[in-house]
Amino acid sequence: MINDKKPKIWYGGDYNPDQWEKEVWDEDLRMFKLAGIDVATLNVFAWAKNQPDEDTYDFGWLDEMMDKLHADGVGVCLATSTAAHPAWMARKYPDVLQVDFNGNKRKFGGRHNSCPNSPAFRKYSARMAEKLAERYKDHPALLIWHINNEYGGAGNCYCDNCEAAFRVWLKERYGTIEAVNRAWNTAFWGHIFYDWEDIVLPSGRSEEWYGANGRTETNFQGLSLDYTRFHSDSLLECYKLEYEAVKKHTPDIPVTTNLMGAFKKLDYHKWAKHMDVVSWDNYPRFDTPHSYTGMMHDLMRGLKDGQPFMLMEQTPSQQNWQPYNSLKRPGVMRLWSYQAVARGADTILFFQLRRSVGACEKYHGAVIEHVGHEHTRVFRECAQLGAELGKLGDTLLDSRVKAKVAILFDWENWWAVEMSSGPSVALKYVDEAHKFYDALYRAGIAADVVSVEADLSGYDLVIAPVMYMVKNGIANKLEKYVEAGGSVISTYFSGIVGETDLVTLGGYPGELRKLFGIWAEEIDALLPTQRNRIVLSDNTLGSKPEYECGMLCDLIHTEGAEVKAVYGEDFYRGMPALTVNKFGAGEAWYLATSPEAAFLQEWLPQLCASRGIKPLIPSTPAGVETTLRTKDGQDYLFVLNHNADSVTVELGGQSGINLLTDSPVQGGKTELAGHDVQIIKLNN
Ligand code: GLA
Ligand code: ZN
Repeated sequence: MINDKKPKIWYGGDYNPDQWEKEVWDEDLRMFKLAGIDVATLNVFAWAKNQPDEDTYDFGWLDEMMDKLHADGVGVCLATSTAAHPAWMARKYPDVLQVDFNGNKRKFGGRHNSCPNSPAFRKYSARMAEKLAERYKDHPALLIWHINNEYGGAGNCYCDNCEAAFRVWLKERYGTIEAVNRAWNTAFWGHIFYDWEDIVLPSGRSEEWYGANGRTETNFQGLSLDYTRFHSDSLLECYKLEYEAVKKHTPDIPVTTNLMGAFKKLDYHKWAKHMDVVSWDNYPRFDTPHSYTGMMHDLMRGLKDGQPFMLMEQTPSQQNWQPYNSLKRPGVMRLWSYQAVARGADTILFFQLRRSVGACEKYHGAVIEHVGHEHTRVFRECAQLGAELGKLGDTLLDSRVKAKVAILFDWENWWAVEMSSGPSVALKYVDEAHKFYDALYRAGIAADVVSVEADLSGYDLVIAPVMYMVKNGIANKLEKYVEAGGSVISTYFSGIVGETDLVTLGGYPGELRKLFGIWAEEIDALLPTQRNRIVLSDNTLGSKPEYECGMLCDLIHTEGAEVKAVYGEDFYRGMPALTVNKFGAGEAWYLATSPEAAFLQEWLPQLCASRGIKPLIPSTPAGVETTLRTKDGQDYLFVLNHNADSVTVELGGQSGINLLTDSPVQGGKTELAGHDVQIIKLNN
């Protein structure tokens, strides 16, 4: 349990009474009660209010609000307020201001705006966290710490302090300048560094530039990769300073910071090791595939080995910062909230509780809208969900999702894939991973999305999409896993480089060559309009004899693997497109190209079936999502209907009680209205 003071699914969200006159406070509390809101995230952007100058701290408003909330039974997720520095700090200590990609020194403005290597920022942010911890350590409303907010939310910093810190970081990683030169292959274009001082940050003033497809391009992948690692680490250092400051006074209060799903800039696998609970902000667009949101929840759950996470933010209705800010249709906020719970969330929190009156988020949805009363569609829907969560109590808390399939996801690989100059700008790592996830999702087969460091022994199938960078020890780990009976799938553009983006010589896929029993001699990149075909040699793998493929085609030769499909076009027609290699007691599949969705949708469930991995229900209708959470031997089957129309869902032999209505679910099937959800406590 996140905190046993609040043994239920927490319900509430970001609340900014510091941005309002006190007159509305009591009205807010009245409405929280009506909506069943029992957790408020306070103090996210109140640094300037709490510390009007270097030596003055004034927490009057926060004292009063903490007491008021507590008196009303509302717990507090207490933020440290350090995501936007006060104006006096920018004036007095300009080192807190960032230098941008093009070398411009920023002025005061925005948020997530502090240089992570600024001595002033580090000192004052840690001090603020400590002041808060000292003050509220015994406050009965305090449930959890929320450090800063959405780290990395604005640009990277390229200031002189960051540059100096980067050199120190490199010294720690490589020891000598010669090792750096080797790691980055600086003999190329005469870039040999003679002295640490020669190394500068890879910005728009040195090695990088904005290229096509929203990509940042670089001349030196090794350097840019290390800067990306360094920047993620620099922000993590800031987080850790605050973490330690609050832990000193409140060792038993859990600590989190709100993550953002597949947020590219930060290596969340590294971050999660320093978090007690993972929390994240979920802002799908109107047209985001439900399976994509599902994958993001699973990615966040996977950060801490399946430990329940917090949904820290979602909007009750609409956003303001997307190009087109659609309303969530009736029932959709509830549906998406339960989607989070279905995939391991133990909280449902919003941004925000009261809609702001001015500045850029005044058109962002909120539980309490500008009209100021409770007679709105959004409020009614929030109150209905609040009542349901109240009724669920602690039933689902700490229950776990169990999956037999793992999809490997790696931030450093993601960076490397997308800073690679060639073979194709169309290659997007997350999208490629999502293609596999989506095929499993449609079939109702649960998958964990985990780090390459995860323990794989509990999985029957491991999918490593585009494993371009093979980190130290990973090839060996996969070999052991397959040898012992596991199945693994990898794809095109895998096994190419090591951790510093130097090519593994001796033929692709490098260290993975033995496991997959193939050699990839060349890699063809297809234009967006070009297609090749996968022609099945083994027609049990799909319902059609052939499927389209595109983007990248590895031209492979087998070295022990069996050919399951070949290319149908071009000069490499007849060369293998899909192979399987028996390795020890298991098998290693290599998919040499990116296939049309239909192929994965047919092949993956079939491969799963052959490995004894079953879907949660016999056949999953389109638009229906299923998951299972288990606690103390009791299974809870979630059935979510993303369709606007009703649907009948066959449950196989399963029956039970729908926890949201207390009605029995029997006869082997159940019917759901459009956008409805059932949480079925299964009869075992
Ligand atoms: C983020 C931030 C919030 C708010 C919302 C708006 O998640 O953390 O402060 O800006 O976006 O969607
Ligand atoms: Zn800086």
